[in-house]
Formats: sequence, structure tokens, C-alpha cells
Amino acid sequence: MKRKARIAVFASGTGSNFLAIVKAVKSGLIKAEIAFLLCDNPGAPVIEKAARAGIRSLIVSCGDFPSRESFEAEVLYALRRGRVDLVVLAGFMRMLTPEFLHAFPGRVVNIHPALLPSFPGTHGAADAASYGVRLAGCSVHFVDEIMDHGPVIIQAAVPAIPGEGGEALAARILKLEHCIYPQALSWLAEGRLAIEGRHVRVDGAAPAACGPAALPFLTSPGLEPAFLPTLP
Ligand code: GRF
Repeated sequence: MKRKARIAVFASGTGSNFLAIVKAVKSGLIKAEIAFLLCDNPGAPVIEKAARAGIRSLIVSCGDFPSRESFEAEVLYALRRGRVDLVVLAGFMRMLTPEFLHAFPGRVVNIHPALLPSFPGTHGAADAASYGVRLAGCSVHFVDEIMDHGPVIIQAAVPAIPGEGGEALAARILKLEHCIYPQALSWLAEGRLAIEGRHVRVDGAAPAACGPAALPFLTSPGLEPAFLPTLP
């Protein structure tokens, strides 16, 4: 029998996506195992969340290493020792080098709180709100050497509410992140994704799905029912 894919989640902050992923793994929605959480910020709340969920944390501060290369060498060593197949960035505030990405080709993914290629960078949702977009959202994508740039796996769009600030919009988007990231990881863990140039083929997924009227959103490809958000 083929063994389950082993995931390492890299996070630097709050860890709400980390928790959504852990829940989806524990409930069997994502057919994978979490090898460990890697955190580069010793004060991050995600560490406590991992402890409560019984997931091992590895705290590796870049500042403790003489160079970025030696930091990444340590991280790669941990990934190999943990027999990690997939690297999942969930609010990890550090760019990975091309050398690192070459060690995990097509196996590093990220979530971004904007509809890429619009509003890359660290304040995606706030930038979208200030710009005055009518539709905002989030994207799960494969990671390449350019920030927030690799092939897109799934996006979710929500209407922007006129006058709503960046923080409120980011909070609404975050709820959808907690649905589309587990969905994308379940496809990835089941080997249902293929990168074809800039495009990602998702085997067996519905083209799109809409949320209920009370919770308007659109995702493409479609979320499977088990990944739909629950009404407040
Ligand atoms: C999310 O908005 C994610 O899109 C971005 O960083 C944030 C992480 O939030 N990459 P959390 O730590 O998962 O709550």
C-alpha cells in the first residue's frame, strides 16, 4: 500500500490556516500526515496551537544562522529526516531560495490573501481594499522563485463591501482561506494536480462552486461539499 504523503507546514504567525489544515488532516479530509510545524518566529502563536494539537514544532530562527544558505540547509535536513513530501507555507514570512525549491520541485505551495496576480506581497487584502476592488479573494498556488507568482491551484472570490477597511476584508477572506487551502491540499495529497506550464490541471474537480446567498463567494475549481464553509 502506498504510504500517506507527509506534510511540513511552515508558519510565522497566528496559525489559523495551520489549524484548519490540522483539522482537515485529523478528520481524514486530507489524506496525509503532518510531519511537523516549522516556525521561524519563537514568539508566534502558531507554536502554542501546534502543541495543543499534538503536532511537533521545530523553531528555527534565521538570525541564529550565519547565512540564509546555512538556515535553509538546516531546514532541508529536517525535511529529509522527517521524510517530508510536501511543504505547505501558511503565513511563512520568508522567501525560499531557488536552491531550496529545486530540492522540492512542484511540492511547495502557498496561500495568498488576494486574487493573484493582483496584489502580491505582504498586505494583499489591505492593498485590494485600498485600491477599491469590487471582488477580492484568496489564491492557493505552487511556489516558484518569484513572490506570489507560481501556477494557481484554486481561487475564491468574495464581493468587497464599500467602505469596509482592509482588516475586515482580510478577516472575511481568511474564512475562505480555511476552506480552499485544505481543499487544495487534499487534491495534492491524492496526486490529482498536474502543473502544465502556468496552468494546474485538477483531475475530477467541478469547474466552479458558489456559496449560499447568506455567504456569497465563488471558487474555481469548485469546492467539494465537505470543504464548504459553515454558516456563522
Ligand atoms: C493569511 O492571510 C495567508 O493568506 C497569508 O498569511 C496569513 C496567515 O494567517 N499568507 P494565519 O497565520 O494562517 O492565521
